[in-house]
Amino acid sequence: MKMVKVANMTDATFHDEPHPGGSAGGKVRVWDPLVRIFHWGLVAAFATAWLTADELQPVHEIAGYTVAGLIAFRLIWGVVGGRYARFTQFLRGPGPTLSYLGDMLRGKERRYLGHNPAGALMIVALLISLSGTAFTGWLMAEPARLAMLPELPQIATPAFADEDGEYGESGEGAEGGGNEALEEAHEVLANLVLLLVALHVGGVVLASFRHRENLARAMLTGDKRAPDPGDIA
Ligand code: HEM
Ligand code: HEM
Repeated sequence: MKMVKVANMTDATFHDEPHPGGSAGGKVRVWDPLVRIFHWGLVAAFATAWLTADELQPVHEIAGYTVAGLIAFRLIWGVVGGRYARFTQFLRGPGPTLSYLGDMLRGKERRYLGHNPAGALMIVALLISLSGTAFTGWLMAEPARLAMLPELPQIATPAFADEDGEYGESGEGAEGGGNEALEEAHEVLANLVLLLVALHVGGVVLASFRHRENLARAMLTGDKRAPDPGDIA
């Protein structure tokens, strides 16, 4: 039988054959239970930290530490976990990432069974900015913690020495968590995470349309459509 190729399939790129042979309806396990618990736990903890900021400090701090703990777990799982949980499976260099982004603009990006290169870049950005948010929060919650890091006050002092007069060794300026530069950094980082989350969810929605599969659901069930020819598994 002669195959007639549709000239333009920009909306839904099925990579030539929507349902080749036996893979119609076939599912494969991609996200293991720990990756899924990590993901939705992170969503819940981040949302809680965000909603309780400046409202319910004890809950805010517990939620923030939960974020930090989940990230610590993910860093280990990214090394010792299963195939699609491993950083080496989905982290790519700048070259492949840029060419994937170019393909996205042209609506020609291939389907990845694991994280695609743009998603992987976003994961790195989220993990780093979330870690920075939790770390600055931890430093801020107890003035003595800043003093435990001898390098930081010395580097940071010139930048905000004129905010509240002297930055005293006694920690007077830090009473009530009042290190303003740190508070500013914490808030900027938290806002950066929020921006990245918006882009992340946008990317998930876009990829879901392009490849006609509900990726959010896949992060719940763990299963994705079996790879079609041309997909990257
Ligand atoms: C309701 C909103 C969200 C939805 C629907 C969603 C959906 C997803 C999906 C589908 C993936 C897998 C992407 C892929 O197919 O490659 C993913 C991965 C990820 N998302 Fe989200 N996400 C949401 C919110 C968030 C938030 C709020 C954060 C962080 C604060 C976040 C952090 C991550 C991380 C770190 C990964 C990598 C998962 C891993 O491999 O461990 N997501 N998300
Ligand atoms: C990683 C998740 C976190 C997020 C998204 C987050 C977000 C925020 C935001 C947006 C604010 C600004 C509130 C405002 O002034 O309007 C804030 C303030 C603050 N956060 Fe966090 N935070 C996180 C983790 C932590 C942790 C782990 C701690 C400490 C253990 C912490 C301690 C604080 C403190 C002390 C303030 C200042 C409250 C005040 O204005 O007096 N945060 N946080």
